[in-house]
Amino acid sequence: MMEKKDIEQLFDRIDKFTADKLQDVEDLRVKLLGKKGEITRLFDEFRTIQPELKREFGKHLNELKTKAAEKIESLRESFADIVEKDTLTDFTKPGDMFELGTRHPISIVRAEILDIFSRFGFAVAEGPEIEDDWHVFSALNFPPEHPARDMQDTFFINPEGDDPILLRTHTSSVQVRTMERQKPPIRVVCPGRVFRNEAISARAHCIFHQVEGLYIDKNVSFADLKQAILLFVQEMFGPQTQIRMRPSYFPFTEPSTEVDISCNICGGKGCNICKGTGWLEIMGAGMVDPNVLEASGIDSKEYTGFAFGMGIERIAMLKWMVNDLRHYFENDVRFLREFQSVK
Ligand code: DAH
Repeated sequence: MMEKKDIEQLFDRIDKFTADKLQDVEDLRVKLLGKKGEITRLFDEFRTIQPELKREFGKHLNELKTKAAEKIESLRESFADIVEKDTLTDFTKPGDMFELGTRHPISIVRAEILDIFSRFGFAVAEGPEIEDDWHVFSALNFPPEHPARDMQDTFFINPEGDDPILLRTHTSSVQVRTMERQKPPIRVVCPGRVFRNEAISARAHCIFHQVEGLYIDKNVSFADLKQAILLFVQEMFGPQTQIRMRPSYFPFTEPSTEVDISCNICGGKGCNICKGTGWLEIMGAGMVDPNVLEASGIDSKEYTGFAFGMGIERIAMLKWMVNDLRHYFENDVRFLREFQSVK
């Protein structure tokens, strides 16, 4: 039959217990709280004692159990450091695996574009995402009523005043900033995020990335533009790639063109990616309008230049046949891991 002194003795033993190693702590736990442990046994006996003693014994037993558990926990903690040290010095143990991250596909393509142009002698220039109307529109020869200035396209931060503050809708703003602070010859590529007030879908997003290119010097011609773009697309999509230039309109270039590449899926024969045309649009370009040069303080009688602008997502989609733009923004690791092996 359980006696008070059994419990007191156990209290005493727990108090005095010391451990030399972690195994001693585990042994103590089994001895006291294991299936056949001493405290476990007392709890079994407790069921059979007289009802009038239950209250007192119950209280003592619960205290004993708590004390034992606390003692075991604190002894374990005191060995924790040592356990850690053991792991560090045991060179025979297998190493801890840690997961490698991947570069985001947009970062991969961005770096590749910049790398190709750096080999043609282009430096990298960057500008602010929060811009003023001057750098995004006015200096780029946008007429005052041009629809691109419209509230529906542009996120305005402060639409009031002569020079509203807004989120840039294209990286062409960095052209202006570069020309304002640098004398020709200028050769820059300008990567960055741009913002447009558009509904998000497979083909459009309110945030995306562009790379702008600008080359200003004496005697820069349309032939230089054509050659630079041809070399770029052949580096990017392979030496068999052809280009086609269609006349177009941008306020900041004259003449302006939209550039297509031969479809890298069907080789130009026509498929559902190129919608049977054999061509895929990849960028806008043109000769910098003299008004733009003058607005940025460059003499348009002395200098000419070309500019181009492309969407990084668009290039990445064509490169890897991703058919939904939203993949680039959702950061689903199953999508991102597919680029693990891309150098
Ligand atoms: N800024 C244009 C856009 O966002 C792209 C563009 C077209 C840039 C022609 C240029 C250019 O520099 O010459 O759609």
